[in-house]
Amino acid sequence: MQKINVVVLAAGKGTRMFSSLPKVLHKLAGRSLLQHVLDTAGQLTNTTTQIVIGHGAELVRQSVGSQKVNFVVQEQQLGTAHAVHQALPALDQQALALVLYGDVPLVLTSTLEKLINAADNNSMAVLTCKVADPTGLGRIVRNSNGDISAIVEHKDATAAQKAINEINTGMMAIPVERLLQWLPRIKTNNAQGEYYLTDIVELALADGCRVHTSVCDDEQEVAGINNRLQLAELERHYQQREAKKLLLAGVTLRDPSRFDLRGKLTAGQDVEIDINVILTGEVSLGSNVSIGANCELRNCQVGSGTVIAANSVIEDAVIGKHCSIGPFARIRPGTEMADESKVGNFVEIKKSKIGRHSKVNHLSYIGDSELGIDVNIGAGTITCNYDGVNKFKTILGDNVFIGSNTALVAPVTVASGATVGAGSVITKDVAEKQLAIARGRQSNFDGWVRPQKLPKKP
Ligand code: UD1
Ligand code: CA
Repeated sequence: MQKINVVVLAAGKGTRMFSSLPKVLHKLAGRSLLQHVLDTAGQLTNTTTQIVIGHGAELVRQSVGSQKVNFVVQEQQLGTAHAVHQALPALDQQALALVLYGDVPLVLTSTLEKLINAADNNSMAVLTCKVADPTGLGRIVRNSNGDISAIVEHKDATAAQKAINEINTGMMAIPVERLLQWLPRIKTNNAQGEYYLTDIVELALADGCRVHTSVCDDEQEVAGINNRLQLAELERHYQQREAKKLLLAGVTLRDPSRFDLRGKLTAGQDVEIDINVILTGEVSLGSNVSIGANCELRNCQVGSGTVIAANSVIEDAVIGKHCSIGPFARIRPGTEMADESKVGNFVEIKKSKIGRHSKVNHLSYIGDSELGIDVNIGAGTITCNYDGVNKFKTILGDNVFIGSNTALVAPVTVASGATVGAGSVITKDVAEKQLAIARGRQSNFDGWVRPQKLPKKP
């Protein structure tokens, strides 16, 4: 098995992003551009990874965290060959170097595998692509046999070379042993005065080493990002690609162009997702789950048969089977809804357990609470769980009925079968099957005469 040394070039500033963030840390589908590249390279076997960093080096290091990669600092960005040169001491002489760009996020593992397979100990390979508009990119110059003879940068190209629409994607597979010989020979005698990695093609050919090309037929897969317009375009491309995969795997998307996946979705059979739904992090949906328009789900698990109506937001929660949520519900982190429970419109649930078949149907806030089975929470019920410093728990037993507009002042327990009258402010525990009413009594006065307005003076 060939050993692969991945070298990710990520030292550039990304001037055209007009950002304080280094370019490779801008996000596409919820992950940084660099993370996309690392994840893709991570699927290759037998690899080590070097990331060449420069601009925003510390931020880039932090974003990578504890992932198994090494960093090489390129103090000055003197060109792509110079960048690879910085990584050279860290490479293994027996390995094949795979050069990737931190700002080319959508390349597929299968494309990289083809590129790797096109090279061996005695030959290198360049990933090319035929594009509609090659402006600014390096052109692939071929001889009369159709073999690559050079890569010429746009700024150095003749008019005839500028007409070539096959471009250098920048990704290459080169034996490390050969890099050691060629990199020191690269000069800066070009329009930009940079060390061009692309010069390696001519050096290889001069040394009698074969140069193969692997042609990628999807322009966007190998497109680099230089500005926010390209970032937005590639985001769409990625979303279309993911939406297509989901549709073909049996998930209904009412409109694949209005669906955003910023993480990973696992879905059962006959899942339906309406327009403008955003799924972030790890989301798993059981069979027959239906999600209405404009919902946002982040890191959550939803049991089969559950219906999430429009405009609901669910985060870090576990939802059981056959539940009903929304429209306009907000389920916050730490919530667990048992099977067949219901949370209706304008209800916020935070870090609470909602028991099986329990209902919080309208206009309520339930925080730090545990609800048993078959609990009914009336409209406008609020758990007062916070005194400004500490959080307290509300415990409601099975079959508890809370009348509308109740304030449950925690810590408080309402035991099984108990009933709370509407409009109560509950500050003391209620025992099993008791009725608690805590509100001002109503007084009615017969023949009440309202205050009269005096006639206006002329
Ligand atoms: C490069 C290629 C060009 C190719 C194009 C594809 C060269 C000379 N040119 O051009 O043939 O068509 O990519 O996008 O290789 N980087 C560093 N350190 C440096 C210079 C660059 O880390 O000193 C990194 C950048 O951050 C970026 C990548 O290398 O991720 C490419 O650099 P960039 O300046 O965008 O190369 P281009 O001139 O566009
Ligand atoms: Ca570029």
